[in-house]
Amino acid sequence: MRSTPEPVATRLKHGSTIVIRALDGIDGMRRAGAFGDLAERPRAERFDTAWTHFAEAELDFLSRIDHVNHIALVAIRAGGDCAEIGIARCVRLAPRSVEAEIAVTVLSPYRRAGAGGRLLGRLAQVAARRGISRLHAVFSADNPGMEGMLRRLNARIDQATARQRRAEIDAVAVSELWSRAFRPVARLPAAS
Ligand SMILES: CC(C)(COP(=O)(O)OP(=O)(O)OC[C@H]1O[C@@H](n2cnc3c(N)ncnc32)[C@H](O)[C@@H]1OP(=O)(O)O)[C@@H](O)C(=O)NCCC(=O)NCCS
Repeated sequence: MRSTPEPVATRLKHGSTIVIRALDGIDGMRRAGAFGDLAERPRAERFDTAWTHFAEAELDFLSRIDHVNHIALVAIRAGGDCAEIGIARCVRLAPRSVEAEIAVTVLSPYRRAGAGGRLLGRLAQVAARRGISRLHAVFSADNPGMEGMLRRLNARIDQATARQRRAEIDAVAVSELWSRAFRPVARLPAAS
């Protein structure tokens, strides 16, 4: 399947609605800037490093989103300013591989409201429909947010190195877990 993932709406834990839509290549480039808006610790958590600048190759990678080998989604608030609250992406380990590596980031003010789990749920759904059955993540051992969220999704987690953990997620099972949480949206809210 090659089509761009449909936008879907879903409710966070406290009742507000978010829309999860596909990112395109231009979005991907702009998002490099958005990562710069993250506070130092979250950015370090996300990349397990203290990066402050993106190299050209990294920008090129972020912009190459085909929704087949590189799926990327953004969550935005459905009402008011339509602010972006988080991003999730997965990249196949090799073309046509059934395995992909994931990354997910929710901006600090929106954490613990369920956005991360929903982004990952929708990512798993889109990935499973494209034949990806296993999602992998490597993250810092000092990242309780990622570990907690992945445990909620029944990920298998083990120690990769002294500082890093490795997780494996069954994309089809997670997709089924979230199957009722998303509804299609006919029109996207205007971008902020
Ligand atoms: C990991 C991350 C995406 C989670 O996003 P989130 O929107 O806060 O996650 P959710 O609200 O969906 O959390 C789901 C569950 O995960 C667990 N969890 C989330 N954050 C947690 C934390 N800081 N400590 C312990 N458990 C946590 C909880 O069980 C939570 O459910 P609960 O709030 O009902 O108890 C977010 O913390 C983040 O962006 N971190 C920085 C980026 C990063 O490290 N990404 C991972 C590497 S790719």
